[in-house]
Amino acid sequence: MNTTMNTTLPAIAEQQLAKIETKTAKVGVIGLGYVGLPLSLLLSEAGFTVKGFDIDARKVSQLEQGQSYIYRIPTTDIQVARAHGFRATADFSEITEQDVVILCVPTPLTEHREPDLSFIQKTATSIAPWLRPGQLVVLESTTYPGTTEEILIPILNAGSREGLAAQSRNSIGEGEAFYVAFSPEREDPGNNTVARRDIPKVVGGHEPIASQLAAALYGSIFNQTVSVSTTQAAEMTKLLENIYRCVNIALVNELKLLSLRMGVDIWEVIDAASTKPFGFQPFYPGPGLGGHCIPIDPFYLSWKAKEWDFHTRFIELAGEINEAMPTHVVRSVAAALNAERKSLNGSRVLVLGVAYKKDVDDLRESPSLEILELLQKEQAQVDYNDPYFPTVGRGRHYDLGMSCAPLEAIGEYDCVVIVTDHSDYDYPAIVEAAQLVVDTRNATRGIDSPKIVRC
Ligand SMILES: NC(=O)c1ccc[n+]([C@@H]2O[C@H](COP(=O)([O-])OP(=O)(O)OC[C@H]3O[C@@H](n4cnc5c(N)ncnc54)[C@H](O)[C@@H]3O)[C@@H](O)[C@H]2O)c1
Repeated sequence: MNTTMNTTLPAIAEQQLAKIETKTAKVGVIGLGYVGLPLSLLLSEAGFTVKGFDIDARKVSQLEQGQSYIYRIPTTDIQVARAHGFRATADFSEITEQDVVILCVPTPLTEHREPDLSFIQKTATSIAPWLRPGQLVVLESTTYPGTTEEILIPILNAGSREGLAAQSRNSIGEGEAFYVAFSPEREDPGNNTVARRDIPKVVGGHEPIASQLAAALYGSIFNQTVSVSTTQAAEMTKLLENIYRCVNIALVNELKLLSLRMGVDIWEVIDAASTKPFGFQPFYPGPGLGGHCIPIDPFYLSWKAKEWDFHTRFIELAGEINEAMPTHVVRSVAAALNAERKSLNGSRVLVLGVAYKKDVDDLRESPSLEILELLQKEQAQVDYNDPYFPTVGRGRHYDLGMSCAPLEAIGEYDCVVIVTDHSDYDYPAIVEAAQLVVDTRNATRGIDSPKIVRC
């Protein structure tokens, strides 16, 4: 299904549409990370000739050797795509050969928790000189409403060759133009319940031609595209989805803290509430928010809201509650040890799971990192185990320099803290071997043991 209104197209856009519909269009994907690489493979599988661009020479070289660097993407998938013409490069002059250019670069927060658009800005600066008339440029990076129009397009217009500019709503069919759209990525890493094709794709063009081209492109790899009237609406759609998650997770985290005091099992309550066939969607408490999206994206909107003198109170409150969860976990570990007449200072503590959520090889913003640092600060002797991470070194917000400890030594720790509930762990065996278990995810559900403290 495609809900786009079709527009009468200039000849160059007609040609572009025909190339997209016949899958003879060449597609360049910039930023070959968790979003860009799977998207490249999807486009390649659909029959497009795909070229991936990245400034990370290691990633380019691995792809050129037919190897994968993302756990859930098998190397064979890269090799199949390469057989269909998929190539990776760091040479941005090759942008000229592409009919479609999709930007999937990071959008983190700065040290002061403000939007860091430098990756979008640098990418736009790198591709601008190589743009040509008729190309479709799509931004997929999550960001605040207005980024495409206020940041991306001005850089592309300023850097592209004279006379060339993004098609604007007011000058359809005039001058030499490329087309610009925004389409948010909705992938949920580790969630295999919905096929990628079945996740509807939202698109918003800077003007109607861009909308039509973008809807045609995504309509060839997704079963449904949903066109919205502006790039701002598409940008805001993604933020609404993630803020909805962030606020609801904060709500259950708060109710968990209350339930713990009241002696009520919050997970049992959520299961019972989930039987309501309407008006309730379950969210689950945990050790804090992680990943590149939920802890970060809401603050893109609160920052932008200030421009309108608007204070996004729900976002701030949700952030406050979710950000306090790692401290709650460490306090719970201290209390659990205290009940065993042990102090956190000097105790051996094993943190199970450093990935931000189960079954993914992604550490970004993981609450485990803060929990490890807080435990170290309290002078605990801390180790971690995670089947996805042999080592945890240094990142934007942490500097741990640790290696994965073997699970066999579990009985030697004063306390085992389950932070990420990977499916590979044998929880009954862990409880059996451990002296004390603090469970932040209800991973030990159904196991009845005095060693378990659920927090
Ligand atoms: N990871 C997810 O599950 C997910 C889901 C939805 C949306 N998003 C959004 O998608 C965007 C990308 O996220 P990601 O998880 O793929 O990030 P990532 O860090 O995994 O990948 C980004 C890639 O961009 C490359 N890069 C950085 N600057 C570049 C430049 N100037 N030119 C070319 N390449 C450059 C990096 O080397 C990296 O390979 C972000 O805005 C994120 O918020 C991510």
